[in-house]
Amino acid sequence: MTLKHITITGGKPLYGQIKIQGSKNAALPILTSCILGNGVCRIDNCPCISDVDVTLRMLKTAGCRVSRGGSTVTVDASQITCCEVPENEASRIRSSILFLGALTGRCRTASLPFPGGCAIGERPVNLHIGALEKLGVCFEDTGRLEADGRGLRGARVTLPFPSVGATENVILAAVLAPGKTLIQNAALEPEIDELCEFLNLRGARTVRKPDGSILIEGVRTLGPVRYSIKPDRIVAGTYLFAAAAAGGKIRICGLPAAGLENPLAVLKKMGMKITAENSFCEIDSPGIIRAVPYLETAPYPGFPTDLQSPLLAALSEARGESLIRERIFENRFRVVPELIRMGAKIKEEKDCVRICGSQSLHGASVAATDLRSGAALVIAGLAARGATKVGGLEYIERGYENICRDLSLLGAEISLSDGVLAEEMPRKV
Ligand code: EPZ
Repeated sequence: MTLKHITITGGKPLYGQIKIQGSKNAALPILTSCILGNGVCRIDNCPCISDVDVTLRMLKTAGCRVSRGGSTVTVDASQITCCEVPENEASRIRSSILFLGALTGRCRTASLPFPGGCAIGERPVNLHIGALEKLGVCFEDTGRLEADGRGLRGARVTLPFPSVGATENVILAAVLAPGKTLIQNAALEPEIDELCEFLNLRGARTVRKPDGSILIEGVRTLGPVRYSIKPDRIVAGTYLFAAAAAGGKIRICGLPAAGLENPLAVLKKMGMKITAENSFCEIDSPGIIRAVPYLETAPYPGFPTDLQSPLLAALSEARGESLIRERIFENRFRVVPELIRMGAKIKEEKDCVRICGSQSLHGASVAATDLRSGAALVIAGLAARGATKVGGLEYIERGYENICRDLSLLGAEISLSDGVLAEEMPRKV
């Protein structure tokens, strides 16, 4: 069977500097929010990733005029002609759920299937529905999400959990709703503040209060804007953990350290020399990695769940035992069996994994099962002795513009190839 895959020859430290693509988790809500107003939104530094492609197709289905030239996207939502989001697209990405808030906010009605996305957990939408009901939206249970937003108005919403998507959905529904909305226990991720910055530039009235809650005062309409997406902190963090695992010294340019405080502190505990300035972040990796006795993922500003798999890959090469607990998603250790096939010594214990660092990763044929596990397998391949083939590229391409281009720029021996995945590489037993 021929599968497009990545081939890596490990054992080479990384050196050099790199600029990071625009943030996936900022671009997706910002693009969806274009539905809310008239006029042309021109968005620069928009990442060339498949999740953006799906979102642009859904915007076109809704009636938006969409164009793309490289990393610049324009969206004109002056005419919204359809408030039904198609199953075949929406079921591919999690962030399709944001069309619920955007279409309800603009048209007072929305119909969409339950969202898709990486199989890292059950990923319910109860927090989204509960919050929008507080804003007067009514839902009909037809096997799809059918929203009647004729009674939409501002309200106080307290989220039981600081869900990123639910926070974004309430913002999208509230910016054009009559009255004021206060979101308490709102997610604190920087991508939320970037969405609000984008909306405020269009004439919305949102503010992050000192206690982290978000106050929104509804306005009548939003105007056009030109905006540039900020760098992707998770992609940057992925490359920092790659340098930790492979050794070497790299500089991430154009990335403010803000948004990566916790992962940078963890990298320092792992023995890395970190220099974090306003415009760049640098890691000098001595090649020896200290284990992390205990760490648990948490909502921002805690350690981000999206860097948990890259962390596991790096810790597989550490000296000593690490215990990592995943507290956000219930099925986010799917990279573990693949890392074990590369020689990692990892044991799963309910919502924790125990890693006995062994510096014994070896090449193997492995496959990604979700976006960040794919990136983690690439990191493991950089550190492993011998050659590694990573399949499941469709997952990696959801969030990484061109991981081969980026890591090659840093000296990695990595390439994209079509070829027979299974037979070429003898499976290590
Ligand atoms: C966003 O997903 C990100 N996706 C995820 O990134 C990220 O891992 C996650 O936030 C946490 O930071 C995008 O921004 C497109 P949540 P989201 O709602 O909004 C539970 C990546 O790799 N929950 O904060 O879906 C949920 O099951 C992706 O880039 C409910 O129970 O995350 C999870 O356990 C993966 N009911 C927890 O909350 C709900 O209604 C956090 O989910 C909603 C969520």
